[in-house]
Amino acid sequence: MLDQIEDLKRRIEAETLDSEEAVEAYRIRYLGQRNGLVTLLARQMSQVPRAERPAVGQALNALKRLAEQRLEDARNRLRQHRQTRPVDLDLTLPGRRAFVGSVHPLTQTLEDITRFFERYGFSVETGPEIEDDWHNFTALNFPPDHPARDMQDTFFLEEPTQGKDGVVLRTHTSPVQIRVMESRRPPLRIIAPGRVYRNEAISFKSFCLFHQVEGLYVDEGVSMADLKQILHAFARALFGDDVQMRFRPSFFPFTEPSAEVDIWWPDANRPGGGRWMEILGCGMVDPNVLEACGIDAERYTGYAFGMGVERITMLRYDIDDIRIFYENDLRFLQQF
Ligand code: PHE
Repeated sequence: MLDQIEDLKRRIEAETLDSEEAVEAYRIRYLGQRNGLVTLLARQMSQVPRAERPAVGQALNALKRLAEQRLEDARNRLRQHRQTRPVDLDLTLPGRRAFVGSVHPLTQTLEDITRFFERYGFSVETGPEIEDDWHNFTALNFPPDHPARDMQDTFFLEEPTQGKDGVVLRTHTSPVQIRVMESRRPPLRIIAPGRVYRNEAISFKSFCLFHQVEGLYVDEGVSMADLKQILHAFARALFGDDVQMRFRPSFFPFTEPSAEVDIWWPDANRPGGGRWMEILGCGMVDPNVLEACGIDAERYTGYAFGMGVERITMLRYDIDDIRIFYENDLRFLQQF
C-alpha cells in the first residue's frame, strides 16, 4: 500500500498542468469522486492491517493534500495567465462586414411611381384596407349583383344584410377615389398607393394580396388624351424610352370609356419572343360616380387609373413569379 502511495505521488508530481483541459483531466483522473486514483486508494484503507493503519493513513492524507494542492496551484496559475497574457487579436485583419438591410423591391417600385406622379402635381392619399361595401362597390357604380362582389373575389369581414352595408377587405384602391371626392371639391389630382386583397386562385401572376397605385384627376375639361399622355410618360419613365405599350379597350363599372394598358415583356431566352403583361386599368370617371360623390358631372370630368405594383416590378426586374415577393427569402431580397 505504501508503495502504491509512493508511486501515485511520483505520477502526480510528473503531471504538466498547462491548460484548462489538462487540469480538468487531472482532476478527474486523481480526485474524481468515483474513479479517481487517490479516491480508489483511500477506499482500500479497510483492508490495511490494523497495525499499519496509522502510517498508511498519514501517507494517504499527505498524498491527497498534494493532489489537491497541485490542482489549486494549477488553477491559480491559469487564472493569472488569462489576466495578463497579451490579447490574441490581429488588429490588421479586415473587419467583418455588417449585414445592411435593403429596400424591398416592391417598396422601391412604389417609391419610383410616387416620385413620378408627384412631379406632375399629384398628392399622395391613403384609405383604410378594411372598407365598407359603399366605398368598395356601390359608389363605384357596381350593380347590386355584379360578380366582383361575389365571395370568390372578395374577402368579406361582414356579409351585407338587409339595410346594413357589408364590410370587406378592399379589393382595389378605387375606394380612395370615393373618399377623396366625398370630402373635397375639384380640382383634384391624387394618387393612392396601398395594399388590396382578393380571394383568387394563387398562381405565378396572382396572389391573395398585392399592391396598387390609384390615380385620380378631376377638373374642368379633363380628357382621354390627358390620360393617354400621362400613362405614356409613366411607361417611359419606369421602363425606358423603347418600352412597347398597348392601350386596349376594356370595361370597369366606374369608368366610361375604359381601357387597360399592357407592356411587352421580352423573353430573355427566345429572341423576338415574349408576351403582353397587363399592368393597369383606367378610363374616364363615370358620371354616375361623380354624382354619387356630389360632384357636378355636367361641369367636371376626370380620369382614373389603378396599376398593379407587383406586375410592374416583375417587368422591371424580369421576375417570373409574384409569390417570391412574399417569401422573405434573403437570397432574393439581397439582390436589390
Ligand atoms: N380598380 C380597378 C382594378 O382593380 C382598376 C381601375 C382603377 C380601373 C381606376 C379604372 C380606373 O382592376
